[in-house]
Amino acid sequence: MNIGFVQFAPKLGDVDSNLRMVDKMLEGISADVIVLPELFATGYLFPSIEFIENIAESAGDGPIYSAMAKWSKEKNCLITGGFPEIDGDKVYNSAMAVFPDGRFILYRKIHLFDSEKLFFESGDIRLKPFQFRGVKFAMLICFDWIFPETYRVLMLQGTQVILHSTNLVLPYCQMASFARAVENRMFIVLANRTGTESTDGNELNFTGGSIIYSPNGEILIQSSDSESAVEIVEIDPDDAVDKNVTGRNNLITDRRPEFYKKLCEK
Ligand code: ACM
Repeated sequence: MNIGFVQFAPKLGDVDSNLRMVDKMLEGISADVIVLPELFATGYLFPSIEFIENIAESAGDGPIYSAMAKWSKEKNCLITGGFPEIDGDKVYNSAMAVFPDGRFILYRKIHLFDSEKLFFESGDIRLKPFQFRGVKFAMLICFDWIFPETYRVLMLQGTQVILHSTNLVLPYCQMASFARAVENRMFIVLANRTGTESTDGNELNFTGGSIIYSPNGEILIQSSDSESAVEIVEIDPDDAVDKNVTGRNNLITDRRPEFYKKLCEK
């Protein structure tokens, strides 16, 4: 199975131009699964809730969904990526996984980062894998990474590949994902963005370095901090099924939930 990511610097608020950019980057690319960054078609550092509401779309209905459905159909692949979702009077920092037949799975970021808390509702959809071509995938969005529970509950439900759409600004996640991959024996596809955004005197530098880890923590590919890139690697998703670490250690059966369950459930 071929899986990969797109890394680039979206322009704040310019959905048309960002979709055209991804369209161009995907020309001639073939893969089973392609991961796009968080909020890839809108940019990130929004000046106001009204600004977001103007470019947010309902899940499965809008220019971002239409572009993803077109790419997915043309390339006969699964495409995932982040978008601002409007549902009634609520706006979520969401991601969708779009299938070649136009079906989609929705995920709403459950751990909001910094000023996202001013604009977005926290996600309300339980973490749950879905199947594509016989493999179990799950989406996460950016700051979800700092809560290892997110990966662990997905691993315990059989997830083989994490599709992680990000707009990273702290310098940890690309490295920390090594631990998430190894401690769960899962593949991780981390699609980050590059570039800088400035709004009302605030500036954010996005750290690029999109990366794919194997369940052994090998780096299968990594992009630079600043260049746009499309990278695809071949994996055997079955490598994420075997949870043995040694002949006597298994990541699932060696767990001792009776010793940490009560605390973890708080
Ligand atoms: C982030 O969650 N976009 C840092």
